[in-house]
Amino acid sequence: MRIVLVVACALIDPDGRILIARRPEGKNLAGLWEFPGGKIEPGERPEQSLIRELAEELDISVKEACLAPLTFASYAYEDFHLLMPLYVCRRWEGTPRSREGQALKWVRAGKLRDYPMPPADEPLIPHLIGLVGA
Ligand code: C5P
Repeated sequence: MRIVLVVACALIDPDGRILIARRPEGKNLAGLWEFPGGKIEPGERPEQSLIRELAEELDISVKEACLAPLTFASYAYEDFHLLMPLYVCRRWEGTPRSREGQALKWVRAGKLRDYPMPPADEPLIPHLIGLVGA
């Protein structure tokens, strides 16, 4: 089965809330909420991909030293196997804003289940609750 490598990040604000983004219409899994990130391009390390994606999607600048790996999603979709490390980040430059039309929301970890997520992302929620509390 084809393996797709994606990297995601939970941005955590000073109140312990986490940023999620809604996948726009026209994309696979449109309307579902996810942790920002994207595909790892050939030759990139996950941290490099994430820094690039966070700049492209959210217009923020993140230093590699501010990215901490938390856990890993591994999910077999019908036509590919998704492998997705999840990082957390509490420090960045700029204010996240949507550059690609996706809705953004800051949510307490304990409320993440109120937002429908891709099946690969859902198992990440308990790890975030364990880190920042509900
Ligand atoms: O974001 P993009 O469409 O490039 O991601 C590739 C695929 O990885 C998506 O179609 C989706 O099935 C999966 N994905 C996911 N959870 C994410 C990001 C992507 O399940 N947070």
